[in-house]
Amino acid sequence: MALRNIRKEGDPILAKISKPVWEMTDKTKVLIEDMLETMYAANGVGLAAVQVGVLKRIVVIDVSDAGNDPIILINPEIIDKSGSQTGDEGCLSVPGKSGVVTRAAHVKVKAFNEKMEVFEIEGDDLLARAFQHEVDHLDGILYTSKVEGEIKTADD
Ligand code: NI
Repeated sequence: MALRNIRKEGDPILAKISKPVWEMTDKTKVLIEDMLETMYAANGVGLAAVQVGVLKRIVVIDVSDAGNDPIILINPEIIDKSGSQTGDEGCLSVPGKSGVVTRAAHVKVKAFNEKMEVFEIEGDDLLARAFQHEVDHLDGILYTSKVEGEIKTADD
């Protein structure tokens, strides 16, 4: 496993649309392991492959306190959403900043797992926010385009 370089806001790859994954290869397995290691090392709760420069529809998320409950989503689609939550959001590609974003409070996601089996997973609150934020990355969207009001620096 290895840490990968996290692309930062202003890098044009972050605005690109990622491509679906249709088979699990050794290379993709390594990518997923590296994404997890990179996310944990940066104290993040989610990372999309595009953020390490790979335009594949792969996301890793871990919102657990202990950081030992990873969720791996391949070709994720949000198939249901309800409710609303408004709160601070940040991104490893936009370090040291945060902004207020309104998202659905509850979402259901359909995706493939690492064995390329379809599954569904639901999330509320922070997990729902992470699902929506990371799926946006796969469509070239950064949370900064959805911020209500000012984007704050970490010291504000
Ligand atoms: Ni992000």
